[in-house]
Amino acid sequence: MSSASPVILILGAGPRIGSSVAKAFAAKGYKVALASRKKSEANDTANELHIQSDFADPNSVINAFSRVTASLGVPSVVVYNGAASTSNPPNDPFSLQLSDFSRDLNVNTVSPFVAAQQAASGFAQLPASSSKTFIYTGNALNTTIIPPLLALGVGKAATAHIIQSAAAAYKDRGYKFYYADQRKDDGKPVYSAIDGDAHAELFLELAEGKLQGPWQQTFVSGVGYKDFGAA
Ligand SMILES: NC(=O)c1ccc[n+]([C@@H]2O[C@H](COP(=O)([O-])OP(=O)(O)OC[C@H]3O[C@@H](n4cnc5c(N)ncnc54)[C@H](OP(=O)(O)O)[C@@H]3O)[C@@H](O)[C@H]2O)c1
Repeated sequence: MSSASPVILILGAGPRIGSSVAKAFAAKGYKVALASRKKSEANDTANELHIQSDFADPNSVINAFSRVTASLGVPSVVVYNGAASTSNPPNDPFSLQLSDFSRDLNVNTVSPFVAAQQAASGFAQLPASSSKTFIYTGNALNTTIIPPLLALGVGKAATAHIIQSAAAAYKDRGYKFYYADQRKDDGKPVYSAIDGDAHAELFLELAEGKLQGPWQQTFVSGVGYKDFGAA
């Protein structure tokens, strides 16, 4: 593969979404960097990098960007897919321990903020023709509550705000920022019925699009983007 191949970095890459997205972008000629707690560089190949990272520590995002940039090049597509969710009794969200709340906030919001910062600073070094796309895997919690999931909801809602702000602020520079949220046909959350291939299809479409589209990419498997309005 030529050194001009584009690079995708998937932060929080696992067997469902991460693996489908990696396969779809590799098929389009991308070199792929995958970061998560269980990754090992022993599995590296010329076109696929494995970076051991725990996004409970936001510095691990900076390390992942340094590694991918040095080994494969500046990523033109960055996906933040990791999440942390300490559940709480539905009738007592304030029983959450501060240590759990702040670790989850690091994984769901602080590390994604650092990732978006790093992505934008890399985009500035790329040629005009590069994709320059940042995608955060969200869910419906930026528009509704699910009582046992306060910590996850706080993180998703805060990061939705970051994505919405970045989409507006950087669109004239050609950088695109998206909050992707798979839903059922009727707009309800998919919960565990996540479709990795549907994510990959949407992410490719967003990466290949020339202009910033709606920052909040609610989508349905087999349909694609669908606007459900405010919940
Ligand atoms: N639209 C919806 O309603 C909906 C429903 C379910 C999930 N989601 C979202 O989808 C995403 C995950 O989907 P998935 O499980 O199918 O994806 P996946 O790519 O199969 O797995 C995500 C990977 O993230 C890694 N990860 C978790 N915590 C991490 C941490 N602290 N540091 C580094 N890596 C970490 C885990 O790997 P390691 O164990 O190796 O770290 C995990 O395998 C999340 O953002 C979640 O909120 C949305």
